[in-house]
Amino acid sequence: MPSFAVSAPQRTYQAIVERGILGRAAQYIPNGAGKVFVVTSEDVWRVQGVALKQGLGSRAFETLFLPGGEETKRLAPLEALAEEMVHKGADRTSVIVAFGGGVVTDMAGFLAAMFMRGIDVLQIPTTLLAQVDAAIGGKTGVNLVAGKNLIGAFHQPLAVLIDPVVLATLPEREYRAGLFEVVKYGIISSPSLFWLLTRRQPEVMAGAPEVVDEIVSESVRIKAEVVSADEREGGLRKILNYGHTIGHALEAETSYSRFLHGEAVAFGMIAATHLGAATGHLAEHREEMLDCIAAYGPIPSLEGIAADRLLARLARDKKTIQGKVHFVLPRRVGEVEVVTGVPSETVLRAIEAALA
Ligand code: GLY
Repeated sequence: MPSFAVSAPQRTYQAIVERGILGRAAQYIPNGAGKVFVVTSEDVWRVQGVALKQGLGSRAFETLFLPGGEETKRLAPLEALAEEMVHKGADRTSVIVAFGGGVVTDMAGFLAAMFMRGIDVLQIPTTLLAQVDAAIGGKTGVNLVAGKNLIGAFHQPLAVLIDPVVLATLPEREYRAGLFEVVKYGIISSPSLFWLLTRRQPEVMAGAPEVVDEIVSESVRIKAEVVSADEREGGLRKILNYGHTIGHALEAETSYSRFLHGEAVAFGMIAATHLGAATGHLAEHREEMLDCIAAYGPIPSLEGIAADRLLARLARDKKTIQGKVHFVLPRRVGEVEVVTGVPSETVLRAIEAALA
């Protein structure tokens, strides 16, 4: 099974896609490491805890629980866990194993970045979204009321262990939400992935192992390449925000409680498609993109959401620099462009079209 190198200033590490790798987790804890702290959520632990326990073998570990859910992705739970770690004997040689979906991997990664000014973290994502995106590339953090991921740090893991077997127990809604991030990779960079998602939707939805492994591996390959080229999002990494700018506004506007992150990204990709068409950036594949996003839906109701309120939130997104909102707009399947200076009225119309 494939392994992809992620090269960053902090370290170079592997994102490994392999069925059953959970059972070998202990191999990725360095010799000489101190106490191991598995940071997870109750629901993940209930379903996958036994498999990780087996994977850690004779390694002693403590289990720490985060509440789970985007609305709980705040600083306060991390302070509580840091206190608990000290109480349980953590020191600078301790290792955190981040075991869960994107909220857990982001939060546990941030805890590792902050604890005693930085300890090692091993990322073991258990949702499709975290496997193809959140757990790779060192972005860690939590939300503020004012916006998503507004406090955080770059903290690269020891490795990312991606076991597609765990996806079999994922609730269908979570699986669909992750698939929207996979669609994103197809649109920004991989026509072969996009057309596979289009043509083999029933197999993707049924979780056919060969297809799942292919879409996960291709997504991880792209993520690893992009992060290796531009860890700090000075240029190329911005393309990973396709669908995210407007998606983040939707999540914040609904207090992080109505939409899963991937669902908000789906909405953002629909709006970006309309915006690409309105600004003349989109040259082809408009219907194909909209159809592919719809094929992995539905997303929750957009009832009651006001376009002008989403527009106002864009200015507060952390991707907005010196008042300029950066949009990633599609040109065709496999090609996007980062665009600034789009008139607010045009953005408003695109959001209205996506809400319609
Ligand atoms: N999730 C976007 C990034 O990692 O840059």
